[in-house]
Amino acid sequence: MTVGIVGLGYVGLPLAVAFAEEGVEVVGVDVDARKVEALRARRSYVEDVADRRVAAASERIHATTRYAELARVEAIMIAVPTPLTANREPDLGPLVDATRSLAGVLQHGQLVVLESTTYPGTTRERLVPLLEESGLAAGSEFHLAFSPERVDPGRTDHTLRSTPKVVGGLTNRCLERAVALYETVCDEIVTVSGPEAAELSKLLENIFRSVNIALVNELAMLADRMDIDIWEVVDAAATKPFGFMRFEPGPGMGGHCLPVDPFYLAWKAREYDMATEFIELAGKVNKQMPYFCLEKIERALNDAGKPVRGARVLLVGVSYKAGVGDLREAPALKIVELLVARGADVAYHDPHVPELPQFGLRSTELGGECDLAVIVTAHPGVDHGAVVEHSPSVLDLRGTTRALRDAKVRQL
Ligand SMILES: NC(=O)c1ccc[n+]([C@@H]2O[C@H](COP(=O)([O-])OP(=O)(O)OC[C@H]3O[C@@H](n4cnc5c(N)ncnc54)[C@H](O)[C@@H]3O)[C@@H](O)[C@H]2O)c1
Repeated sequence: MTVGIVGLGYVGLPLAVAFAEEGVEVVGVDVDARKVEALRARRSYVEDVADRRVAAASERIHATTRYAELARVEAIMIAVPTPLTANREPDLGPLVDATRSLAGVLQHGQLVVLESTTYPGTTRERLVPLLEESGLAAGSEFHLAFSPERVDPGRTDHTLRSTPKVVGGLTNRCLERAVALYETVCDEIVTVSGPEAAELSKLLENIFRSVNIALVNELAMLADRMDIDIWEVVDAAATKPFGFMRFEPGPGMGGHCLPVDPFYLAWKAREYDMATEFIELAGKVNKQMPYFCLEKIERALNDAGKPVRGARVLLVGVSYKAGVGDLREAPALKIVELLVARGADVAYHDPHVPELPQFGLRSTELGGECDLAVIVTAHPGVDHGAVVEHSPSVLDLRGTTRALRDAKVRQL
């Protein structure tokens, strides 16, 4: 079998490697020539995919910027970005571009599967007409399905193989072909009635997380005013063996998915005279968190008799989540921006992020002088005990130093 993957990013590259590892020939297409060059040099640029895996799979992965090379594959998976515009509306630009280019080379009998997260209806309403510009009819002359990607950067306990894969086809035959495709790399395939159910299932997963994170963040702000330890409350509630799922408060939501995807649905819902209030409210609460963190920083400095201007503030961990260097929508960036605007002398330490060029900052070693250390993202391997030991005052936004019970540490 030969498959094609369009978009070789966080989603597309692991997928390409997984197919290649099963002996499948892969044609990977990306508009970013640097990614194509890296793969040709057998180098990975995605943290979760080790260089040695790319090197071992490289004989079977043919990376290119040319869509024409997709003409010889049996199935094509699309994993291009689905961001928001400046007005926070779905930006299908990359997806439309990729689909148009694909239509130019589409062959009779090929299967196309969209993996990018998007609103229900995208596959049928947008991809079908674009792909049919090829002169081929969807559902009969080529097959089409939607299957959401569930990759969670940094996670090692669940892999592409062990995570059930949801698939919805335009027709029964489309579904059958998509199931056969993914059976190569996934142990369990979950079929649904059509692309719309598959599209919405991915959004439900992301909105579920966004809403629950917002709920616990709102309670964290209230608990702070009431002088109740939110972490103690979460620990206590989480002892309930049913009907509760643990979510932890934090500095806000980051990554490419949670701050973006729910708004695809909010936008589509307006077409149906619906306002998706949970989505908007969760977005609002989570966006407020960096400002709340700033207030806690100001209070911590105030208690030490220091204004923010001129205070040396060390941020520990700036990527959006532990164990990865991904900075997309990272709340730490907002916190740095707010601190810099108030004249603070900001430094940061993050083993996954060597520099923040937009602020002219490079990661510093731990142990330097500071007035306040703020643990924003608790990476494994960082000695947070040493951070506490060497800093006059600490604000821990992740609850990672709670067990130390050190009086100079404040928790979120
Ligand atoms: N990153 C995640 O954790 C994750 C998880 C689940 C779902 N998703 C979804 O998967 C999709 C892809 O996300 P990602 O994180 O891999 O993005 P990414 O930015 O890492 O990768 C996308 C790739 O597509 C390429 N591209 C853009 N336009 C193209 C075009 N016209 N033709 C060919 N290539 C093109 C880009 O150069 C880039 O390399 C998004 O819809 C995202 O919401 C991402």
